[in-house]
Amino acid sequence: MSSKQIRVGLLAYGAIGDEHNYAVDASDGLFVAAVCDTNPERINAALEIAPDANTFEDADEMLASGEIDLVIVSTPPNSHYSWAKKALALGIHVVLEKPMALTTEQCDELMQLAAASQLLLVVYQNRRFDLDFLTIKDLIDKGEIGEVFSYESFVGGYSRPCDFWHSNAEVSGGAIFDWGSHFIDQILAILPGQVDFVTGLNQKRVWDHITNADHAQVMINFKDGVQASFVNSDLAAARKPKFYVLGTKGAIIGDWDESGEGAVADLPAIISVY
Ligand SMILES: NC(=O)c1ccc[n+]([C@@H]2O[C@H](COP(=O)([O-])OP(=O)(O)OC[C@H]3O[C@@H](n4cnc5c(N)ncnc54)[C@H](O)[C@@H]3O)[C@@H](O)[C@H]2O)c1
Repeated sequence: MSSKQIRVGLLAYGAIGDEHNYAVDASDGLFVAAVCDTNPERINAALEIAPDANTFEDADEMLASGEIDLVIVSTPPNSHYSWAKKALALGIHVVLEKPMALTTEQCDELMQLAAASQLLLVVYQNRRFDLDFLTIKDLIDKGEIGEVFSYESFVGGYSRPCDFWHSNAEVSGGAIFDWGSHFIDQILAILPGQVDFVTGLNQKRVWDHITNADHAQVMINFKDGVQASFVNSDLAAARKPKFYVLGTKGAIIGDWDESGEGAVADLPAIISVY
């Protein structure tokens, strides 16, 4: 008998599709049994890596087919909630792309459904494993900068945002839901305190062709007085460092690797310790 037993369905095969396809292929116990996308070209792309997968253009049909045990939902964000809810109702485990959903009520409901039916519900938080973040976490855990009292992260630059769904707040959830899903998750993974309160501000000043904010900031205040912030900006003519962490004995700076102009956000930061 093959060691690959859990039948995975890939629900949507856009830009992130290959990453999930390769990850499933590389994981013992999992195999891609089915792939669904409304765009046949994307299905063909999936078949290049998983040629034996069954194919669907209708996600309801794939979920009801009885052919999958686990679904990886990679549709645009505003449909994450409904696809996850349908899958859980059918007894299918769910890996959900970020952002998990667009409201806390939707997230709470999904978690309750998963718990009640003893199904897996996991958000794909791949940037918890980024090398720059892991390096910063290791330095902090080893006490290199003492007690962290201020943690800032930043993504952005000064450029016209794309016209794609990423920039449409109704679909994306808003500017903070994209990179913010990763960077706020990192804050919660690295700072041990209990969150006291959270504030945020969207600014809309220049890019009128889209509905996402141009500049968005979230501040997280912890009960022990520690502060964290994340800024996502399309109006930052001068970039802040990707990471700026202050501790009682030193500081860690994660500078942008500008050699990756264009895709700079995907490159690991250059880490310095002071
Ligand atoms: N974790 C990460 O690093 C990471 C990176 C990129 C994208 N994402 C997330 O993945 C999700 C998808 O992003 P993307 O960049 O791949 O988007 P994309 O626009 O490239 O692809 C979306 C795909 O969904 C398909 N689709 C839409 N509705 C569908 C439906 N009802 N049934 C079947 N297929 C449908 C489209 O045809 C398209 O192929 C988003 O939530 C995004 O935030 C995560």
